[in-house]
Amino acid sequence: MRLIIDTDTAGDDAFSILLALKMPGVTLEAVTICNGNVDFEQQIENALYTLEIAGHAGQVPVHPGCPLPLLRKPVDATEFFGMDGMSDANFPKSAQRPDARHAVDAIIDLVMANPGEIDIVAQAPLTNIATAYAKEPRIAKAVRNLWIMGGTDNAIGNTTPASEFNFYVDPEAAKMVINAGFNVTLSTWTLTMKSGILPAAALRRIETMDTPLARFFMRVSQAPFNRTRIRYGSPLSTHPDSLTCACAMDETLILESADCLVDVETGSELTRAYSSVCVPLGAEEAQADKLWPAAKPNCRVIRRADTDRFAERMIAALGA
Ligand code: BDR
Ligand code: CA
Repeated sequence: MRLIIDTDTAGDDAFSILLALKMPGVTLEAVTICNGNVDFEQQIENALYTLEIAGHAGQVPVHPGCPLPLLRKPVDATEFFGMDGMSDANFPKSAQRPDARHAVDAIIDLVMANPGEIDIVAQAPLTNIATAYAKEPRIAKAVRNLWIMGGTDNAIGNTTPASEFNFYVDPEAAKMVINAGFNVTLSTWTLTMKSGILPAAALRRIETMDTPLARFFMRVSQAPFNRTRIRYGSPLSTHPDSLTCACAMDETLILESADCLVDVETGSELTRAYSSVCVPLGAEEAQADKLWPAAKPNCRVIRRADTDRFAERMIAALGA
C-alpha cells in the first residue's frame, strides 16, 4: 500500500507517522504539512524529528503546504500539545530538511502519476487537500482512498460543543473536500472517544518498554495527559490520527461503519464546522419526507474500531 500522510504534526500525528513507517507492506511516499495544531515551521520540524527517531531520516520527503486556512484566521491547539506540539520536549533539529516542493504540488504529482494507487490519510485541517483539489480536480477520482480524521458523528466536539478541531480550523476546506467525490472514509472524534483511547494496560506496557520510540511516545504524551486529566477527570491517551491511519492500513480494524451523507456547517458561528451525518433515505421514504436528505452517500463513516488490536499495533510499532 502506498500512502501520503497530510498532517499538522503534534502529539498523535507523530504516532500515526510511526505506525505507517513500521507497518509491513506500507510505503510512506510523502508527509505533507498543513496548518493546524501548532506553529507551522514547528510542525515541519516535528515531522522531520519523527522520521529521524524512527530510523527513517532522509527516506521520506516532508513537503510544507498551506500555512493558513482558506478563509478563517488560524486556530491552534498549543494548550493541548504544548507550544512545540511535543509537550515542550524541544527536540533537536534533524539533519533532514523539508523538500522544496509545495505539499499541494507533491500531492497532485504523486496521485496523478499513480492513479488508483495512492491512499491519503488526512489528519489535519483539510486546507492542503482542498487546495490540491481546486488546482487539479481529477485527483478526487485518482486517489484510491481518502481517510479523513475530522468532524463528529452528530455528537459533542473537542473544540466547541458542535465541532471537532480539524473541521473547526478550516470548515470551508472540509465542506469542499467532503463533497468533491473522493472515496472518503471518515474517522470522527466520536469514534476516537469510543475506540481510539489506549486501554490502561496497554499504556502501562508502553511505559515499561525501554525502547527509544516508547520513551518518545511517553515524552510527547505528557501535555495531552495533563490536559485530558483536567477535561475528563483522568489522563487519557487519545489517538484520533493514529487510529485513522491504523484503519487505513488494516481495514479489518473497522468493526462497524455506515455509508452516510455528510456535510459541514460554514454559515453559523455557534455551530461552525458542525458535521451533519445521516444515512440517506430510501426512495420510498424520500417521497414521503421532504426535509430529510435523500441524496447518495458521500462518505463511509467508521462507527466502531477494534481498540485492542489497534493498541497491539501501537505497541509493536513502538517496540521496533
Ligand atoms: C484532531 O485535531 C488535532 O488537534 C489532532 O491532531 C487531530 O488530528 C482531533 O480533533
Ligand atoms: Ca492532526
